[in-house]
Amino acid sequence: MSIAEQLEQMWVSCETIPAEHRLDQPIEQREYLINGELRNWSGPMQTVLSPIYLRAGSEVQPATIGRYPLLSREEALEAVQAAVRAYGQGQGYWPTLPVGERIKYVEEFARRMKERRTEVVRLLMWEIGKSYPDSAKEFDRTVEYIRDTIDALKELDRTSSRFTVAQGIIGQIRRAPLGVVLCMGPYNYPLNETFTTMIPALIMGNTVVFKPPKIGVLLHQPLLELFRDCFPPGVVNTVYGEGQVIIGPLLSSGLVDVLAFIGSCRVADLLKKQHPQPHRLRSVLGMDAKNAAIVLPSADLDLAVEECLLGSLSFNGQRCTAIKMIWVHRLIADDFISRFGAQLDKWKFGLPWNEGVRLTPLPEANKPQKMAELVADALQDGATLCNRDGGATSNSYYHPAVIYPVSPATRLYREEQFGPVVPVQNFLEIDEPIRYVVDSSYGQQVSLFGSDVDMLAELIDPLVNQVCRVNINSQCQRGPDIFPFTGRKDSAEGTLSVSDALRVFSIRTLVAAKDHELNKRLITDIVRTRQSNFLSTDFIL
Ligand code: G3H
Repeated sequence: MSIAEQLEQMWVSCETIPAEHRLDQPIEQREYLINGELRNWSGPMQTVLSPIYLRAGSEVQPATIGRYPLLSREEALEAVQAAVRAYGQGQGYWPTLPVGERIKYVEEFARRMKERRTEVVRLLMWEIGKSYPDSAKEFDRTVEYIRDTIDALKELDRTSSRFTVAQGIIGQIRRAPLGVVLCMGPYNYPLNETFTTMIPALIMGNTVVFKPPKIGVLLHQPLLELFRDCFPPGVVNTVYGEGQVIIGPLLSSGLVDVLAFIGSCRVADLLKKQHPQPHRLRSVLGMDAKNAAIVLPSADLDLAVEECLLGSLSFNGQRCTAIKMIWVHRLIADDFISRFGAQLDKWKFGLPWNEGVRLTPLPEANKPQKMAELVADALQDGATLCNRDGGATSNSYYHPAVIYPVSPATRLYREEQFGPVVPVQNFLEIDEPIRYVVDSSYGQQVSLFGSDVDMLAELIDPLVNQVCRVNINSQCQRGPDIFPFTGRKDSAEGTLSVSDALRVFSIRTLVAAKDHELNKRLITDIVRTRQSNFLSTDFIL
């Protein structure tokens, strides 16, 4: 069967979708959460179209999966004011609560969140086109992240529950919250990458305004009432709508203390500039990347192909950590490309719930066109399309295209494609790919493939000063979540990991006293009578 026929068959009618994955009713989400109250919106709404097209007779149309509120500036400001009130200049109920108590709130949220797994996973598939196993993994990984965050905070609290005496001064050093955090995650991990900033921000005592990404809104709806029920009023507030309408006023109000944003550096710059006192705004940013793989002549080619495939095309290449440029030594380039194409041919495409599917429809409306433009530009420069059916398109589906050789004159050489196009270039001297990494505007990760110990050792030291993770014979990736996730240059600001996130959403603060009898007696009395949450040797088991 031709690719065109296979693609045509991919779009099915609603009735043929397995019942457990079917979305019976579009979701009419009118609620938004402000100050512990789920308010009903009667203003303009945004219709959400799925990347999944459905067949009805001879027509194939994107499924309409729901609507969400397009709030105005007023509601956005109310949301941030509610967060400001709940923070109470650091004197509110939430920021002054003992750590052990805040942990209980988060534990209850996680417990109830697990009950909504089926709905959230289903919506992840319909809203962003992620395969069923990957959607389930995103949910489970997020729950696990919450559990690990709680354990890491207990550990942090235990080490802070002691006094330090140095140079005649007694001190107790702990971490305290920063204020109001604006959390904005990306569409490719709308649940996980929002929660990996929001949960640490909350558990450290900050209050939050949360705006879901433009694509990936409805999947949060099943969790809205949990935010209302599990946290005190004003601690979590949600806003929906056009970034320019609602996020601009939030930042220019000067009421946001921390911006936690995962998206493009262009938008991050726009957001940061709007704060009236930029030095007051802390930023935790995950931004653009163009991670390179470098395949050395000594590489185990089957392994390199397998990891480069996973690295470049998992979730259709829509990962900030994806391998977005492959450098292969000229001696093995032809072999690498033919094996890569052969393995890619085995990857199944289809709808997210189809058994064994890895390649799925793309959620951004113009993505297939953008991919086609990047490919056309490279082909015009003399590159060739190296895999069977590469670039075949049907509605929101774009079949991965492997393009070789991609010269510096092309857009694909430097531009982040964030989609299913795999640019490959060859090299003779190792200086060429190294220069590529050094000259890049980005500095997230790199993958090295080879078995020559001397060569690998020689490359590791210069590369760790260019990027923030050098992967050996392994694809680039964020996990495991206890590892630091960050980047240089235009790729990131701040470091995330289970334990690092607790640090970036808090500041060290201490109580100090000269070591003499009066102070010793005072401190001992305060600790013994448990009159302070801060000055305390209690620890959480
Ligand atoms: O989009 C960027 C994600 O942080 C990547 O995470 O490497 O686990 O897919 P991942």
